[in-house]
Amino acid sequence: MSEPLEGRRAFVTGASSGIGLAAARALAAAGCEVALCARRLNILKEQAAALGTRGFALRGDVRDFRSMQIAADHVKKKWSAAPDILVVNAGMVATAPLAEMEPEKFRDVIDTNLTGAFHTCRAFVPDMLAAGGDIVLVASVASYATWETWGAYCASKWGLLAMARTLAEEVRRKGLRVSILAPGAVDTEIWPEAQKPDPAKMLRADDVGAAVVQAVSAPKHVSFDEVRILPASGLL
Ligand SMILES: NC(=O)c1ccc[n+]([C@@H]2O[C@H](COP(=O)([O-])OP(=O)(O)OC[C@H]3O[C@@H](n4cnc5c(N)ncnc54)[C@H](OP(=O)(O)O)[C@@H]3O)[C@@H](O)[C@H]2O)c1
Repeated sequence: MSEPLEGRRAFVTGASSGIGLAAARALAAAGCEVALCARRLNILKEQAAALGTRGFALRGDVRDFRSMQIAADHVKKKWSAAPDILVVNAGMVATAPLAEMEPEKFRDVIDTNLTGAFHTCRAFVPDMLAAGGDIVLVASVASYATWETWGAYCASKWGLLAMARTLAEEVRRKGLRVSILAPGAVDTEIWPEAQKPDPAKMLRADDVGAAVVQAVSAPKHVSFDEVRILPASGLL
């Protein structure tokens, strides 16, 4: 198998499960060294070990900027360089009618999905600018729609889309390519059990992991920009 990403170094948030883990595996299989970041260190260590010498685990909480700065410093020391691929993926779901939602829950969703993505970019992008590379942000079909009880999540993902588009405008002429992936329903742990669609109709995490690899291994003169990835079943 060809290894188009041989020698590149990727940092992936939300890599302990679902899409982040699938992206980490796919990037490693394509030849990258991968830093897997999330809060559940034991799981991360197991998953990183399964990638052999290409993976290593780093505990980080995207809600806490200091934690992301420490992660950025750590990988810079380990690799003697900043990553040249940043996958901004960590996220969570909490659903309730807005008139009933606990304010702490609403804040938690925004702090993770929106402010957490900003913290990740703010901690890594300054050093990445020197050498160039790729930033992939995992948005959602919820960045373009609204549904009852999904107000906090949709607000966080609309916000993430606005932030990601702005970042793309700010860095694209400075050597960083920004890809915004917007998957539809993916069969992962993020779904509240009562709201989860039929898994047979959903995407698999590996489908999005493969899209991450496609985005970052596209020729330098090509940018995926914004891509919706939908289940062919017709489910959003
Ligand atoms: N599944 C879908 O249908 C779907 C569709 C479109 C977009 N997405 C987006 O895809 C991304 C990944 O979600 P997923 O579906 O793969 O769900 P998942 O399996 O639940 O993964 C979420 C990941 O985020 C991490 N995470 C959550 N809070 C964090 C925090 N404060 N700091 C660091 N890491 C944190 C979790 O790890 P720890 O708990 O170990 O920290 C986990 O690794 C999310 O941004 C989600 O919004 C999902």
